[in-house]
Amino acid sequence: MPVEMNTGSAILGKTFITRLDRLSIDYFIVWVKAYEKMLDAIPGQFFEIKIPGSDLSLLRKPISIYDIRDEEIGFMIKRIGYGTDMLSKAKEGQILDIIGPLGNGFSDSENKDILLISGGIGYAPLFYLKRKLERKNNVVWMHGGRTKNDVFHSCNIIYTDDGSSGIRGLVTDGLELILAEKKFAMIYCCGPDQMMKRCSEIASKLNCEMEVSLEEYMGCGIGACYGCVVSIREDNNTVYKRVCKEGPVFK
Ligand code: FES
Repeated sequence: MPVEMNTGSAILGKTFITRLDRLSIDYFIVWVKAYEKMLDAIPGQFFEIKIPGSDLSLLRKPISIYDIRDEEIGFMIKRIGYGTDMLSKAKEGQILDIIGPLGNGFSDSENKDILLISGGIGYAPLFYLKRKLERKNNVVWMHGGRTKNDVFHSCNIIYTDDGSSGIRGLVTDGLELILAEKKFAMIYCCGPDQMMKRCSEIASKLNCEMEVSLEEYMGCGIGACYGCVVSIREDNNTVYKRVCKEGPVFK
């Protein structure tokens, strides 16, 4: 049975893997048993996850929520190193240390035309966001990746660098095209830094409201170490914010 301790609105404790789903060569979903407060998590929030007893290379990793269904939470993971490789080989029943849900999450919207735009593993938090938003909004989702192995078919418009799936090119080029044709009340964005930077340049030029979910190296994940501070432009001023606490979602 899991041991749980309340830390504000988050849970610190243990859960276990219920199943693993492979999406492509390098991407998979780890589903874990969700307990009460975990089920209240909103899209854009994340958990710090660790395989207990593992060595230093397996310190807790911040992983955003991919989906919540019944009594399970899914985390989408890309196999890029030792830690994520270990997770990809974990078995049903494997115990995990978790802290979460953490961070602020995306804002809610109602009766709006919404555009989601993601790149690579930035697909993960937008999957759950889309499921929530499409009940009460019109949602279009554009996603870009390097090859067909980096794109997923829940999206409406797909771009790949090599043209192996969808349209050849950058999803940011697609953003300019779609915004020239249609006005969206809100854009939600997650992906590599350069992609998000370009998206916010395009959106601000056209006065479109946008939220981006930042990824940053995280030490503690709970606002204590200040290892995740980034500079943010706010009302023409530069301010410093912790991605794990004031983010990861910023306007
Ligand atoms: Fe420690 Fe954000 S990771 S303050």
